[in-house]
Amino acid sequence: MAYYSIQNIPLTDLAKDFGTPLYVYDADKIREKISVLRAAFEGIDLTIKYAVKANTNLSILRLMRENGVDMDVVSPQELELGLIAGYEGSNITFTPSGVHFSEIEYAVSKGAIVNLDNLSVLEKFGATYGSSQPCLIRIKPHVFGGGNEKIMTAHPESKFGISIHQKAEILAIVEKYKINVIGLHQHTGSDIKDGQTFEQAASALFDFAYDFKDLQIIDLGGGFKVPYSPEDPGVNMKEVGQIMSNAFRAFCTKYGRELRLWVEPGKFLVSESGTFLAETNVVKRDPVKTFVGINSGLNHLIRPMMYGSYHYMFNASNQDTSKQEEYRVTGYICETDTFSFDYNGKQNERMLNEVKEGDIIALANAGAYGFTMASHYNSRFLPAEVLVDGGVARVIRRRETMEDILRGQE
Ligand code: LLP
Repeated sequence: MAYYSIQNIPLTDLAKDFGTPLYVYDADKIREKISVLRAAFEGIDLTIKYAVKANTNLSILRLMRENGVDMDVVSPQELELGLIAGYEGSNITFTPSGVHFSEIEYAVSKGAIVNLDNLSVLEKFGATYGSSQPCLIRIKPHVFGGGNEKIMTAHPESKFGISIHQKAEILAIVEKYKINVIGLHQHTGSDIKDGQTFEQAASALFDFAYDFKDLQIIDLGGGFKVPYSPEDPGVNMKEVGQIMSNAFRAFCTKYGRELRLWVEPGKFLVSESGTFLAETNVVKRDPVKTFVGINSGLNHLIRPMMYGSYHYMFNASNQDTSKQEEYRVTGYICETDTFSFDYNGKQNERMLNEVKEGDIIALANAGAYGFTMASHYNSRFLPAEVLVDGGVARVIRRRETMEDILRGQE
């Protein structure tokens, strides 16, 4: 899994040319993942709604658009970015959670299709628009699925969606205002790999759907697990696609009409395209362990500290495997900001080719929820972002300066 270049450009050259810390994305990888996903659902009327929260860089959004991928957004700002990237409102679904109704009105005014996730907002939607605007309803199917409890979204205690046990209430509101419900949606969670979980969630939604007579769309969400290490194969997309397609076909037959299927992957499309590069500031030989301190921290890539996530990492400056050591890789933030977690979500050491100060440490799977979850903590600059396409690397977000930190402050 340790690859030392992207489209033949050495990672160390990218670090030298663009500086560190740096997010680098491989456009070919994104295109490849789009094709794999489409192939997995062959024969189905499928629309991919990229969950842009994973990576909202405008150049990535444009790339998605050029490849016929639509968008799923969760805030007016993500919606705005989509429009700036050239999307029509009608290609954008707004799937917010717990927002003020004015945000729903904004999305409708931009022509986006809204996905409603509580009874209160459904009532307001009905009272405001009657049958004049289409909508989807997000259902919580009471299914357990996801890599860790923070990223499970369909279990009974989840805040997301309207409980599957509130069908009578939903139908009463829909009937009262003659709401134009064109689709039903559910999203189980993130980092799911077994087909059974997807099937279970889908079939709960299908069972629920028969009482909605005017459906055009079933949206089964995202959550397809990506490989995080050489030992971790990730989801078998072909197999899961087949399982979901078969269940969907059977549903359409019973429902009596061919519907469209939507999926909303974030990680699956962009996680593996991204590599995060940081430079070793210090190799600290402590009596207990050896730390590699890099010029980044949880301000730039929070997934390890937030979820205990495993990110594969390697010394991009040293390909000599004859001398390796165990290192705890940490950041420069005034918090415990360990990057090296084991598979059980515990801080740990990584075996790396010998690290010297100045070496570039590369972290894989940095394309999803990396930059988009970065912050200005400790008042440090956000990393730059680079896209490699057609063998050429170009900056798609410049490195920040003190002006960015000061903007808007008195
Ligand atoms: N659809 C909805 C409604 C979602 O809430 C999400 C993710 C997705 C689709 C896309 O899920 P994906 O295919 O990316 O797994 N920050 C966490 C992941 C949080 C996901 C939130 N919702 C992480 O870095 O693991």
